[in-house]
Amino acid sequence: MTLRVGLVGCGNVAVNFHVPAYRALPDQFAIVGLADPSAERLELGREAAGLAPEQVHLEVAELLARDDVDLVDVCTPQHLHREVVQAAAAAGKHVVAEKPLAAIPADAAAMVSAADAAGVVLGVVHNYLFFPEVVALRALIDSGELGEIRSVRVDMLGVVDSPGAAGYRPQWRKDPAASGGGVLMDMLHGVYVAEHLLGAPIEAVNAFLDATDGEAVESLALCRLEAGRSAALVNVGWGLGPGGVAIEGSAGRAVAHYAADGTMPWAPFDRIEVTTGSGSRTLDLPPGQQLVPLVADAMRDTLADLGAAITSGRAPAADGATAQRILEATVAAYAASALRRTVDLPLTGALFERGAVGLTDLDVPAGSPARRLGLFGLSA
Ligand SMILES: NC(=O)c1ccc[n+]([C@@H]2O[C@H](COP(=O)([O-])OP(=O)(O)OC[C@H]3O[C@@H](n4cnc5c(N)ncnc54)[C@H](O)[C@@H]3O)[C@@H](O)[C@H]2O)c1
Repeated sequence: MTLRVGLVGCGNVAVNFHVPAYRALPDQFAIVGLADPSAERLELGREAAGLAPEQVHLEVAELLARDDVDLVDVCTPQHLHREVVQAAAAAGKHVVAEKPLAAIPADAAAMVSAADAAGVVLGVVHNYLFFPEVVALRALIDSGELGEIRSVRVDMLGVVDSPGAAGYRPQWRKDPAASGGGVLMDMLHGVYVAEHLLGAPIEAVNAFLDATDGEAVESLALCRLEAGRSAALVNVGWGLGPGGVAIEGSAGRAVAHYAADGTMPWAPFDRIEVTTGSGSRTLDLPPGQQLVPLVADAMRDTLADLGAAITSGRAPAADGATAQRILEATVAAYAASALRRTVDLPLTGALFERGAVGLTDLDVPAGSPARRLGLFGLSA
């Protein structure tokens, strides 16, 4: 069965990665329509997808009203996902949304409920799950060679600070009301990769944040994510800090290295070293790819998994409920840093209803870094 795709939002990720991924999977997908209120971006998307002018729309509602669309792919910035996802689900269409599912947990929960009520699939693009070394690490854990997993460390301290598409608002990622947070929100890839390797849902979070002077979102986030008797350290920052993934089990360790100790996906994967009581070895894996082919392949694999999930009735690699929990863990890191204490999931109150900007409703201590730095709308 070929799923007919309507894609909403023709920004960088849509044009550079989603459109080519669908076109690489002609047995599973056919792009039949696009929507974007920016005429410039719509035209770029139309050309990339090879569509006729009558198949593309400045009004999203026109695309959602079409009965020749089976799957709506939402590639707008995250604060704009909810309305589209709810309308698509109400129209009986399956949905895939870019990460993060939303900027605010309440929006994520509303999307999960809308998909459940309509009986449609809601998949979320957690594409780093399909990076070959992440797949290899999970398979190594599943083999039992490392024993019980006790801790995971994901370092992404060398994230490149890329602006959004010029035809829209290139700096929307620095506006907490739109993005919901800074580098950690944008790179919550590190949060879901950590949870995936721990193999248990995140239950509580603590964190330290810092920011570039004058910016309203964090540029550095050092987080501790607790899941039962195991925990992950997820360290994310815009800059030139180190990257890598390390897993500690009761019977051994595995460490993924990237070129010059850089951060995935900017630094190509180098090797995984496994050490147990019987010695050390390097896993036999293909050489790491550069950023564009790596992300392109992972996007193709993510969407192929989603298509197979829809047609076979199984859950996709990341469903709405998982993506909601990952978002809540990210918001919890902001709250933990601001409130200077461990924050339990699921979130409640202002953090659930308004995300990081809900901190303005809470009693954030004067000495808190988030208040001192004026993050998320807090005043010093
Ligand atoms: N999974 C990944 O590896 C990855 C990579 C990049 C971005 N993303 C995610 O994809 C989303 C988009 O990011 P981007 O970098 O492409 O952003 P962008 O700024 O490049 O593009 C945003 C696009 O959305 C359009 N848009 C704005 N309002 C709209 C509306 N109401 N309806 C329809 N379209 C609208 C804009 O015109 C623009 O074309 C974000 O949620 C981001 O986190 C994911």
